[in-house]
Formats: sequence, C-alpha cells, structure tokens
Amino acid sequence: MNLKDLYINFFIEKGHKQIPSAPVVPENDPSVLFNTAGMQPLVPYLMGQAHPYGTRLCDYQKCIRTNDLESIGDKTHHTFFEMLGNWSLGDYFKQESISYSFEFLTKTLNIPIEKLAVTVFEGNEDIPRDEVSANIWKSLGISENKIAYLDASNNFWIAGESGPCGPDTEIFYFRSNDEVPDKFDPNDERWVEIWNNVFMQYNKDVNGTITELPKKNVDTGMGLERVVAVLEGVDDNYKTSVWKDIINTIEIISGKTYEGNEKSMRIIADHIRTAVFISADPSSIKPSNTDQGYILRRLIRRAIRHAKKLDIAIESDFEQSIANAIMDKYTKYYKEIEDNRQIVLDVLKEEKNKFNKTLEKGLREFEKITSKITNNKLDKDNAFKLYDTYGFPIELTVELANELNIEVDVDGFNEKYKQHQELSRTASSGKFKGGLAGNDDVEIKYHTATHLLNAALKIVVDENVHQKGSNITSERMRFDFSCDHKLSDEEKDNVQTLVNKWIQEGIDVTKQEMSKEDAIKSGAECMFIEKYPDVVTVYSIGDISKELCGGPHVQNTNELGEFIIKKEEASSSGVRRIKAILK
Ligand code: ALA
Repeated sequence: MNLKDLYINFFIEKGHKQIPSAPVVPENDPSVLFNTAGMQPLVPYLMGQAHPYGTRLCDYQKCIRTNDLESIGDKTHHTFFEMLGNWSLGDYFKQESISYSFEFLTKTLNIPIEKLAVTVFEGNEDIPRDEVSANIWKSLGISENKIAYLDASNNFWIAGESGPCGPDTEIFYFRSNDEVPDKFDPNDERWVEIWNNVFMQYNKDVNGTITELPKKNVDTGMGLERVVAVLEGVDDNYKTSVWKDIINTIEIISGKTYEGNEKSMRIIADHIRTAVFISADPSSIKPSNTDQGYILRRLIRRAIRHAKKLDIAIESDFEQSIANAIMDKYTKYYKEIEDNRQIVLDVLKEEKNKFNKTLEKGLREFEKITSKITNNKLDKDNAFKLYDTYGFPIELTVELANELNIEVDVDGFNEKYKQHQELSRTASSGKFKGGLAGNDDVEIKYHTATHLLNAALKIVVDENVHQKGSNITSERMRFDFSCDHKLSDEEKDNVQTLVNKWIQEGIDVTKQEMSKEDAIKSGAECMFIEKYPDVVTVYSIGDISKELCGGPHVQNTNELGEFIIKKEEASSSGVRRIKAILK
C-alpha cells in the first residue's frame, strides 16, 4: 500500500472522516493564487464554523507553491505537491495528536524510534514554553536529548500574517547511514523535517493581537514527496516511486539518461505535472497573461525550453506522452484528472504550438543579443524585445542569461512593461512581477466587466447572488455565480442592458488600500474574509460596485466597449455560468 492510502486508512481508523482535496485554485479567495497548505481551505472551520463532516478530518490536499519556482531543478523542490493532513476541530488536542503521529510513524511505517527527533516551542512573552508536548514525547519514549526547544520563527505556525495559529511540534527523521548522533541538532542537515503538528488555539488579528480561538484545534501537515523519499531511502525525490515512471518516460522520449541531464528532466517533470493539475482544476484556468494563467503559461514554456535543451523534437507529441504518464498515476486519487484529461492535453498542445512558433527565432535572437554583450548585462530594451516579439516570459530570459553569467535589467524591463501596458497598478497587486505583452489590456477590461456583471446580477436577479468564480481570456469572460434558476431571456436582457448603461455612463473606477476591518465595515463584497491579508485593496465603480480585489482594472467604464452575453448555463448545483464578450 502506498503512503497516501496508509495515512488515510490510519486516520479513518482513529475516527477521522476523509474530506476531498479542495481545488488548487482557492474558491472565492482572490488574495492568493493557489492553495499552499492543507489547512487553507479549512480556515473558516478553524475559526469556529462547524464542518459538515464533523470534528476529526483527514485528507491529501493538492498544493502549489510558486514562490521558489526558480529553484525547481534541484533534488527536493516541487511547484506542486500533496500535503497529507489530519485535523481536530475542537476535538482532541496535544495528547492524541502527538500519540497518533508517533504510532503512525513507528508502527504503520516501522520507522525506528532512534531515527526520530522533535522540536517544540520554547515560549515567549505571550505564550508559555510547550512543556506539555515535550512531556508527551518523553512519555512515548523520545529521549530528552532528541527534543530541541526553538523560538517562534521555528515553532509557531501561521499562514501569512494573520489568522488561526499556534505553537507547533515538528518531527524530524535522520536521513543518513551515519550513526545517529546522541544529541539532536536541528541544523544538522542529515535530520529532515517530515511532519508538522500545529496546535491552533490562537487567532492573530490584523493588528498583531493574539486572542484565544473559540476552540483548540490541531492542524498537521506532511509533505508526501519528501516522506516518500525518506521511506524509500533516496535523497533525490525524483528517484522515488512518485517520479520514477515519469523520469523514465522522459528518458525514452529524449533518448538520454537521467544521469547527466537531471536539471532539465526534473524541470520538465515538475512543470508538466503542475500544469496538468492547474488545467484539470474546476476553475478551468487557461494560459494567459495574468494571475494563475500566467503561472501556467510560464510553467509550460519553461518545460518546453528544457525539452529543447534535451533535443526533444518539440513538434512531436512529447508533452502529451509525459502528461498522460502523469495523469495515469493520479486518476485513482483525483477524479478531475480523468474527467478533464482531454482538456489538459489540449491546453498543453495549444500553448506549446503558440510558443513554438517564436521559440526558435527567439533563441537565435537571444544568442545574437548576448554575443554582442561586453559588460555582462542584458539591457531592458532587449529583454522587452524578447518578450514582446518572441513571447519569452522575463523569468525565462533571466534563466537563459544566468546560464551565461549575464545579468538582466529586470527593473528596467518592468518599468518598460508598465509604460507599455499602462499597467502601473498591476505592480501593487503583488500577485506577479512582469507578465507577457499582447492582450493584457483586453483582459483588464474583462476583469472590470466581471465587477459590473456581479453588480447587475444582484440588481436584476437577486441581491443574494454571489460570485463563485471567474475565468478570463483575451477572447471572453466567464462568470460563475450562485443562483437557483436558469435566467429567463428577460433577465439576461436586463442584465446586459444595465451593464451597457454603466459602461456608457463613463464611471470612474477607483482603488483604495485599507485595513481588512475597514474594508468589511465599508460594505465591500468578499467571502472568507479570514483569508485576506491585513491590508486589502478595494476597487469601487462609482457607487455601483465595491469589491476586495487585487486588480488591475480600467480607469473608467467607458473603456470597455459593448458588453454582450453569449451564453447562460448551469455550472454545478446551485451555480450558473455566464459567458460574455466585449466588443
Ligand atoms: N499548516 C501546517 C503546515 O503547512 C501544518 O506546515
């Protein structure tokens, strides 16, 4: 049995209910692009709301972290990973949590106790030293010198700046054939962290004040890829059963061995896997120039560039074979992968074809530019040309240049980009640096149109209509909203007319930064307020619409053109979907 099944079965036996993995793109939470931890979709329940499945939960959650995307290519980093988690929502606390972890590791996985060590919170002026956890570990047989007491930067867990949080105890495994040292040193790299048990009994508000939560919760997280590597006794995650078949597929396609080509093969494997999970997500993300779509585009383009480095024929169906090998591994656990297999394959192929048209020429242009460089600096104009004419994301240019020890004027590029796109507001959204030229202006218009549509639906259909999701490309917008009936022709007409009336009125779009509390007080629309950062951006369109949103938006509604509803259909139970265009 594999780790995922062992884990879930173990916790089900301990009275937990398995909950399905939430989508990788958080629903109704524009403050983060992707779920980065198993607890993220559970924030409202950690804050006190009752969970429909009860008080003991477990799952494997799809997570995506793209902040260290550039470090992919080493042995241990991944942009996508699965986090195994179990939770107590005001049910058990430290005693059971630690005992369950200990039992799973030593009995189910048969890890020898001497190879385990733990860290616990040393305490600070607000929260006492966690002697309770330390004593539980000792009672289970972990000796005093295998326990390290560390400060809040190590043993106090919070997602971001505010929200549910608490001291944690981290479990380490000695990954080495050396003799296990008597004393545990958390800085000794032979010890790797494998599991984190967070005792979430506090809430940190936007001012940094810590208060007790209504209930004492447990939130745990175990990174699947890392633990599999530990259990299988390898120090390169890509040599584990998680990746072996996929690397093998790439070896066959390229006719090259993994040894000697590790970096490119890891990047191809990792990026295509993440692209598969983003494209198969119910949010229907497509490659684009903003937000999640931009990450998807970067991942696919970077994978293609590394395929080229391995002399793989880009015109071949290589990406289809790799994606299929990946999907075959995951269909058992994620139904959406099987349901959306063809969509995923089409996304990869279309984006590849788009990029492949300019890739060859772009690489030649890059060589021409760099052959003339004498000061090891690639200037902003050339960086901009590579991106504008050849579709090279700035990050790709930086990567190519770094391989030649050439520095790119990224700041200069960003400035030029902003001037070109008049996108100065994008920078403050903090969601992504740079972007691709081409259709951004159009997508921004669609973005503003979603706010108008949201407002019009509330007036025409029902004030309780709420946005459930949206997806924008340069060709169209899609908007999902809660609604219990099919819209009549009259409702559709009225919505369309109202949006066009607002467009014609030429209403200013304004942006304000404010504290989350003030935003709520001002009546700005949003859901899952707990998930937002302390300072939020609120976009208002006259007095028609006010929403928490990262932007960017047009400055005035008169920039939008004509709004036309193309289709209204069911999306899922209780959720309708409108497809619309701007002309
Ligand atoms: N939420 C905790 C983590 O991500 C378990 O480490």
